[in-house]
Amino acid sequence: LAEEQQFELLIEGLLNNEYGVCDNFFTPEEISGLRENLQTYHQAGQMYPAGVGKNFDFQKNAEIRGDVIYWIDEDSKNAVEALFIEKIERFIAYLNATCYTGINDSEFHYAYYEPKSFYKRHLDQFKSDRGRRFSMVLYLNDNWLEEDGGSLSLYIGDETLSVYPMGGRLVFFKSDETEHEVHAAPNRPRISIAGWLKV
Ligand code: OGA
Ligand code: MN
Repeated sequence: LAEEQQFELLIEGLLNNEYGVCDNFFTPEEISGLRENLQTYHQAGQMYPAGVGKNFDFQKNAEIRGDVIYWIDEDSKNAVEALFIEKIERFIAYLNATCYTGINDSEFHYAYYEPKSFYKRHLDQFKSDRGRRFSMVLYLNDNWLEEDGGSLSLYIGDETLSVYPMGGRLVFFKSDETEHEVHAAPNRPRISIAGWLKV
């Protein structure tokens, strides 16, 4: 799909079904580049559990989520990170122009879930961070199969929708409305970039 059609797919999905999914949002080469970056940060010991506010309680946090993260620098000089950020910026411009959303900030991190780790059912907008309007998750996994597990459940109305973390797939939903949950993959690390469009 051309870029504008990808953007339309995500926005139409959100408007009609509360969530949008687009496969191949980045090319396989770009996804490999992002995956290699993540592996470099992970092997260098630069990925840590997310700290939620100043009352960070490691034990309690670990019961809720088991991933480790690395925040992407918005001025990154890494070629594939710069390309990632530029496409997100074009999406934000498109979203603001078509939906009057007033997004003026964003933040993205790599996430690494070791086998058996999960993120319990939650909303992405916290009391301490009300600026988050839209959530985006881009999966970086190579050759993921449904039998590998690791699905994202989206709780929409009375329904639970499952999205598997296939490399190149991007999911888009509202941060303050759509509860969701990351299920464990028993045998494989599960890797992604998760981020938020903010006001
Ligand atoms: C998150 C999250 C979903 C996923 O990082 O807040 O819910 O599928 N991620 O990784
Ligand atoms: Mn989330």
